[in-house]
Order: sequence, then C-alpha cells, then structure tokens
Amino acid sequence: MLRHVRKPLPHDSAVKQVQGAAPYIDDLPEPAGTLHVAVGGATKAHGTLVTLDLDRVRTAQGVVAVVTAADIPGRNCVAAHMDDEPILASDTIEFHGQPLFAVVATSRDAARRAVPLAGIEITPAPPAVTIDDGLATGARVLPDYAFVGGDVEAAIAAAPHKASGTLRMGGQEHFYLEGQIALAIPGEDGAMLVHSSTQHPTEVQHIVARTLGVPDAFVTCEVRRMGGGFGGKETQACQWAAIAAIAARVTGRPCKLRLDRDADMMMTGKRHDFRVDWSVGFDDAGRIAGLDVLLAARCGMSADCSAGVVDRAMFHADNTYHLPAFRIDTRRVKTNTVSNTAFRGFGGPQGMLAAERVVDAIAWSLGRDPLDIRKANFYAPGRDRTPYGQTIEDHDVGLALIEELERTSDYRARRAAIAAFNKTSPILKRGLALTPLKFGISFTLAAMNQAGALVHVYQDGSVHLNHGGTEMGQGLFQKVAQVAAEEFGIGLERVRITPTSTEKVPNTSPTAASSGSDLNGMAVQAACRTIKARMVAFAADNWQVPEEQILFADDHVQIGNQRIGFGELAHAAHCGRVSLSSTGFYKTPNLHWDRARGTGHPFFYFAWGAAASEVLIDAGTGENKVLRVDILHDVGRSLNPALDIGQIEGGFVQGMGWLTTEELVFDAEGRLLTHAPSTYKIPVASDVPADFRVALFDGANREETIYRSKAVGEPPFNLAISVFCALADAVEAARPGAGARLDAPATPEAIVTAIGELDVAAALGAALARPS
Ligand code: MTE
Ligand code: MOS
Repeated sequence: MLRHVRKPLPHDSAVKQVQGAAPYIDDLPEPAGTLHVAVGGATKAHGTLVTLDLDRVRTAQGVVAVVTAADIPGRNCVAAHMDDEPILASDTIEFHGQPLFAVVATSRDAARRAVPLAGIEITPAPPAVTIDDGLATGARVLPDYAFVGGDVEAAIAAAPHKASGTLRMGGQEHFYLEGQIALAIPGEDGAMLVHSSTQHPTEVQHIVARTLGVPDAFVTCEVRRMGGGFGGKETQACQWAAIAAIAARVTGRPCKLRLDRDADMMMTGKRHDFRVDWSVGFDDAGRIAGLDVLLAARCGMSADCSAGVVDRAMFHADNTYHLPAFRIDTRRVKTNTVSNTAFRGFGGPQGMLAAERVVDAIAWSLGRDPLDIRKANFYAPGRDRTPYGQTIEDHDVGLALIEELERTSDYRARRAAIAAFNKTSPILKRGLALTPLKFGISFTLAAMNQAGALVHVYQDGSVHLNHGGTEMGQGLFQKVAQVAAEEFGIGLERVRITPTSTEKVPNTSPTAASSGSDLNGMAVQAACRTIKARMVAFAADNWQVPEEQILFADDHVQIGNQRIGFGELAHAAHCGRVSLSSTGFYKTPNLHWDRARGTGHPFFYFAWGAAASEVLIDAGTGENKVLRVDILHDVGRSLNPALDIGQIEGGFVQGMGWLTTEELVFDAEGRLLTHAPSTYKIPVASDVPADFRVALFDGANREETIYRSKAVGEPPFNLAISVFCALADAVEAARPGAGARLDAPATPEAIVTAIGELDVAAALGAALARPS
C-alpha cells in the first residue's frame, strides 16, 4: 500500500511562500562587502560599435568598477555549443539592448544610475526585425531541416478537396515573478560559488568556469528555488551568472546582479513566434491525404535552443492526426532581436496550433463540426506511424480520452445551443472547440535523458535528499520527497529537501522537457534502494532473520518478530560500519533518434489530454470572454494529484495568455515596445474561466516510469489551443471565411481584423426582421 505517493499533499514551500518566508536569491543574507551590478545595453538593433566611452560611468557616485568584454579572462561566449553569442558585445551589435558593459557599485541604485552615463556610438545597419524581414535576408541561425514522407504534392493534387493558408502566431514573455538574478561569491584559488536562478545549474557552472578561464571543478552553482522559470532560465540564466562572476573576479568581492523587469524583458529571449504556411488535400470525410507545412520561426540573433525548439514544433505538427503524406519543413530565421529560447512546450505548442488550424479549415470548408474532423484523422490501427517514424501504440488512450470529454462536457448539446444562439445574435457570437493533445516525453537529444541523486541517512534516521532537478514552483521537490519517504517507509518530516548544487550531483541535465520527476524520481529511488538494501542485509545478519521478513513502514522496521524505529536501525547499521549514503542514477530506456534520416524513437511515451472551451465574442469590438472550460488530462497514475491539477490549471491559463492577450510589439528599429506589465498583458486571476472543470484521466503509464506516473509540466499548456480554436469558431460564425484569417494572439484587434468591418445596422436589421 502506498502511503506518500499519490497523496494530494501541498507543495513543500507553499506555506513559506505565502508567508514570505521562502528565501529567493535576493533574500539571502548578503556577505559583507557585497557589490551590485547593472548592465548597459546597445542602443541600436544592428550595426558596429565604434565608441564605448565609460569615463563618466567610472566616476559616478558609488561605482567601484566597470566591466567590458576586455575584462573577461576566459571565453566571451554564452552559447553552450555554438560560438554565436558573446556575454558582452564589443564589435558587432545584433539586437537592441544587447549587453555591452556592466557597472559594479556599492548599491543597486548607484549601479543603475551610472548606466545611462555611458557614451555609446553605433554605426547602424538595417535591422531584420520580423520573420518576414529575416526570410527576406535569407539569414538563418541553423540550417533548414524537414521531415518528408510520401509524395505530398501528388497526394494533395489527387485529393478531392484542397485548402491552404497562412497562420501567424506570436511569441511570449516568460514573466517569471522572480527575474533573472545571480550572486557570485569568490573563494580561494580562483574558485567561485554562484547562486543562480537557473533551471540548469550544470550549464551555469560550465559557462562561468569557461568565462573565468578556470576548470569546471572550481565553480559551484547552487539553487534552492526559482520564482518561476518556464524555460526562460534553461539557458538564459548563464549570462547574468557569468557577468556577476566576472565582476566578482575583477573586484574580489561578492557581486549580485538582479535585472529589473524592463531590462529582463528586453535582454532575455522569449517564446519563438512562428509564421506557418500550409496546404492540405483531403477527402469528403475530411480525412487528410497530404499536408505540406512550412514552419518559419523567429530565432533572434543566435541559435540558443532553437535547434530543439523548432525540431519539437516539427514533432508536434501532426498533433494527434495521421498524415499519410507530408512535408514538414522549417526555417530557423535569424533576426536582429534578442535570441529566443525555451518556453513551456518548447515549440510543441506552435506545431500543434498549426495542426489545429489545418483541421479547422477542413471542417469549415466541408461545413462539418471540427470535432468530427479531429476524430476522423486521429491516429488509429494501421494509421499509427508518425512523420518521424515512431509508432503510436496507445492512440486508443487518446481517443478514449476525447470521447469521454465529449460526453462529460456535453459537447453536442452545447454545439446545438450555440448554433441556435448565433442565429439570433448578430453581434455577440459564441464559439466552442474541443481539441486533443499528444505530447512526446523525453529530451529529443537522447544524451540529456539522464539524472543523478545523492541521499544520506543520518544516525537519527533523518534523510538528506538531493538530486539534479531544480524547483521552479512545479512541485518537483515535493514529489521526489514523497518518493524517498515511500522507499524508506518513513514520514515526510524526516526527509530534508536541500538545494540543488553542482557539488552534490554533477553533470546534470536542465530541469526541462517536463522530465524532472521522471528522471530525478527514478534516480532518488535508486539511491534509496541501494541504502535500504544495505540496511536490510545488516539487519538480517545482525538479528539472524531472513531478508524477506524485514519490512519498512510507518517510521519503523519490522525485523522478524521485532519492531524497531527506523532511526534505531540507522544507528545500529552505522555502528555495524554500514555506509548509509549513496548516489543514484537513471537513464531513460529505449530512446534513439537519427536526425539525419529523420527517423527513430525519440520519445519514451506520450502524455494525452483534451480541453473543451466555450467563448463569447463581440464581433464589432473584438472583446471576448472564456465562458467555460472542461479539461481531461492524462498524468498516468499521479504522484501527487494536487500538484498535477495545479500544473494543469497553471499551464492552461499561461497558454491562454499566449493565445489571447500577450502581445510582443517591436518597432521597425527593433526596439521592444512592450517591456513592462503596463503594455504587456499577462493573465490575472480574473481571466481564469469562471466555470473551470479539471479532471485527471484515470490510467497508468504503460511504460515503467516512477510509480507509473506521467510528466505534467508542459503538456497542459497546449490545452489552451481550445480557446484559440473556440475564438476562431466564433469569428467564423460572425463571418464565414473569417475564421482562417484569425492570427494569434487573438486580441480584440486580431478578432476585428479577421472579421473585417461589420455593417452593424444591417446585421441588427436582419436579426430583428427574422421571425423568432
Ligand atoms: N510550473 C511552475 N509553477 N513554474 C515553472 O517555472 N515551468 C514549466 C513546468 N511547470 C514551470 C512550471 C516548464 S517549462 C517545465 S519544462 C516543467 O515545469 C519543468 O519541471 P518538471 O520537469 O519537474 O515538470
Ligand atoms: Mo521547459 S520549456 O522544457 O523549461
């Protein structure tokens, strides 16, 4: 019987967070002599730096040092695997706000006030700002890449029906509540301890070491928690950690760098915006014969994670639909904007949104309910091979899930009611959409699917828990603590959660791709089992009892007829000279991916889900509202249903923000105009749907994951696609043919633009004249 796993326990920091008692990096006591760092950025988006006059900065009040590229002892490069992005630019300028220098001062205020005193002269070159600009220059951060199967042109040409279109979808600012921050503390012999708000301590360690010109072993990166990461701290925490470390090296004092919100929004990458050009051929039943889709992504000035992000968009451009013939082509467009990066879903949402637009367009052109087209194209026996060669073996789970949601959300009756409403309502239109999702779980770079843990049992029976995963609010630490408590049969209060540190577990992967609990849960389980096996062997020998008669439960150990406390056994084992400390290691089985040939088995398994959203729009003003949302989501057998539901609700609302209100606007000069919450609108509590029904789909993971659970961090983000499709459905109701013109985010402007100008008087007149 499970005692800790599957319990809806609160997040380990929940109470402390509410009380303000959970320390973030800026809350840590500052070591004596701590200095503060502010960063100065480029004033043009593209060009050559000809003058960087820092004299007035140096003499400003409180300034202790000014750091430029020339002060970097090691490599001036923030990219992990490429050589395409400097920490501090010194010559070529590639985006507005690109870091050029850092001011180190006695207070944060003094450092910030000194920044604008710099004399910066840049000989400008024309910037490529948008995807279209970038496509016109032909510049790429990475080579074009496609999945091709069958003869797609012939399949489309031979199909009885055809449709095509262009869909543009915007990027997204991460808007983690805790911005980017690092505190670097110099140690002896050139060592550096860096507290960084990062999802990837190992990469921070490595980049800081390389920047300082010291071996990795001289740098430690530690992180207890982040106030949100959402992918924005997977690679992009490195730059600020590296700058803080250079400042600490130059001054010999602890240095803290915390970006203010505007700088954070201008200087760090976002979700990639995409332009999708698609054309499809299909039969009378709406079944796709061939899909030709071109995904062009704005990557910004460097590659960063664009290889993986755009690949994941390709891996999800099928969503849950079988494509008999296909070309899924990509352009990783280079622009003079900040380098775009990981963001919850990692390109998956962009690929899936493209698939859902295609399906909607088929439905509109045939005059059918989009849900019927979704079901007609769903993966099925004999129609189960993905464009990347992996076979979908559990499509029955996905289909069962959408059919259950179709029933529980009362989809058909509501569809009829909405049609009736729309007939008599000329300006206000309702829309409904039920969209499925399938999300591939694993890093698509197979080597990243590994994790380590370090567990100690002390003589009093308390347990020190450490692993390579990081906590960003998702509840990973709580879930993994539940696993440790379960393994030892002890109460959670005995399990001490400790900060992630490169000193304890080395060579870790980022906490990303939703794989944190899958990977680290297994590594911790392995470490606990090693220690437990030693304790069992010791007890069997010491008390002369067969190993099968030794059971751990309720903080006690049953040893034959005797029952002793877990702590007593720990103490006895220690006196018997038994090691009570162990590492644990896990690597995901059964993964292979041949990118050159575009085929393999990149995902360990898939998470399924579906959402039905109903919306109301004002076709005259574009104002809109989400009326009701029903979600059914597959987390396998949940490790912690409370945290999983939290991830589903949070992911959904964040996705809704991406597709409805969050709009990044750059001017023609490449300046981000929306660099503060005053102009960039994230969802707030009042945007949460008033009628919001979330349920977990009941079913074990068919693969052997930690207690048969499934990853949950990113997949539910994609449920918000149902909101966008419902808005498009309402737009189509307002003006047939307009649905396919709706771009994301579906702001009021976008809705009005898609519908075009309504002849309100005529629409009203027609409605009034209609007999009721
Ligand atoms: N939930 C919260 N509260 N805060 C976050 O920053 N990040 C998301 C997701 N859920 C995030 C979150 C992203 S992008 C990922 S990849 C996963 O959590 C990472 O954690 P996991 O692998 O433990 O699910
Ligand atoms: Mo999440 S985008 O994989 O950090």
